[in-house]
Amino acid sequence: MNALRRVFHWFDDRLPISHFWNAHLSGYYVPKNFNLWYFFGSLALTVFVIQIVSGIWLTMNYKPSAAEAFASVEYIMRDVEWGWLIRYLHSTGASAFFIVIYLHMLRGMMYGSYKKPRELVWIFGMLIYLVLMAEAFMGYLLPWGQMSYWGAQVIISLFGAIPFIGPDLALWIRGDYVVGDATLNRFFALHVIALPLVLLFLIGGHIMALHEVGSNNPDGVEIKEHKDAQGRPLDGIPFHPYYTVKDIVGVTVFLFFFAIVVFYLPEMGGYFLEKPNFVPANPMQTPEHIAPVWYFTPFYAILRAVPDKFLGVVAMGAAIFVLFLLPWLDRNPVKSIRYRSTTFKALLGMFVVSFIVLGWLGMKPATPTLTLLAQFFTILYFGYFAALWWISKNEKTKPVPERITR
Ligand code: HEM
Repeated sequence: MNALRRVFHWFDDRLPISHFWNAHLSGYYVPKNFNLWYFFGSLALTVFVIQIVSGIWLTMNYKPSAAEAFASVEYIMRDVEWGWLIRYLHSTGASAFFIVIYLHMLRGMMYGSYKKPRELVWIFGMLIYLVLMAEAFMGYLLPWGQMSYWGAQVIISLFGAIPFIGPDLALWIRGDYVVGDATLNRFFALHVIALPLVLLFLIGGHIMALHEVGSNNPDGVEIKEHKDAQGRPLDGIPFHPYYTVKDIVGVTVFLFFFAIVVFYLPEMGGYFLEKPNFVPANPMQTPEHIAPVWYFTPFYAILRAVPDKFLGVVAMGAAIFVLFLLPWLDRNPVKSIRYRSTTFKALLGMFVVSFIVLGWLGMKPATPTLTLLAQFFTILYFGYFAALWWISKNEKTKPVPERITR
């Protein structure tokens, strides 16, 4: 034991190990009233680790070439020992990532976690979200199934709608006149190394920015404003052991549901793994109905709701970009939904409903009635941000308590 301690001290004198432990775990104070909504940050980290580990093992047998990719995935599924498990962990992990992230973002919107002083935490989060979408999109091309191929074809052609530079830009992204071997190769490089590295740095920035200002909480009060004689927040508890233990419970429950999907419902009725993707890519045959995976469909519905292709692309981009502006669009200093007006609650409810309905519409073939519906819900989607900017200035809020209540 003594020898072990000496080894530890040898390292600790040369690396800031105990300093890090104190600053970010045992001496890092966190509000004592976190609820279920506060599980999703650690769950996002968990899924990130699952994706990296399963991804490394997939790469050991995957072949990034148009001639071999589809067959190599089938080989992983049928012949590689535990290959089916590794692949289902990764494909289920992709959808799980977005479920967790959407709930994580909704928590931020409910409790006003994007407001001062956490604007940068939110901006880092939004950058993560953008890169995550690129990561998922590129990963989806790799199995080289029908939906991989035609999905990429449709999305890359959107860049072609940009005036002047569009066609050249689309060509530059594809590396060819059609989606082909060159596209697959570069998407592979970006998916397995470039974007995961960017994500890792962004996650680091996200957590560093968060630890600089400290977490918000369901009451939306700043715990740093009331400290004891030793300078410890009165309404705070050390992250370790209290929240490490709580987060382990969250991760366990999450893994239980995750395992049910991996072992019993890996395709999730065609939502997590789409049916046309079990057919090898065929550039000569367009699938009957092309739809992106569920986590992109709200934005796809917005794209299709606008009759002009270029303006559709602009609307889709704006739907994502407007989220970046949230810290400045919401001008009310009251953070938590608990103390905000009924109008705010109704607006946020409307936003969530419009996002879900748009998601559903984005999966359906576009009929005139459904397009009309998509236009209506697109207006509601953007309406949230406009109305928030408008009402937040003079909103009638409830008094916010000085200290944490529950
Ligand atoms: C890989 C993706 C992500 C990871 C690993 C991650 C991780 C975390 C962790 C561990 C926390 C602290 C625990 C918690 O509050 O739940 C946190 C807080 C936060 N995250 Fe993320 N996050 C990710 C993506 C995002 C995204 C996409 C957004 C929003 C656009 C976001 C916004 C926030 C905000 C505002 C907080 C502070 C919440 C508060 O204090 O109330 N995060 N994140």
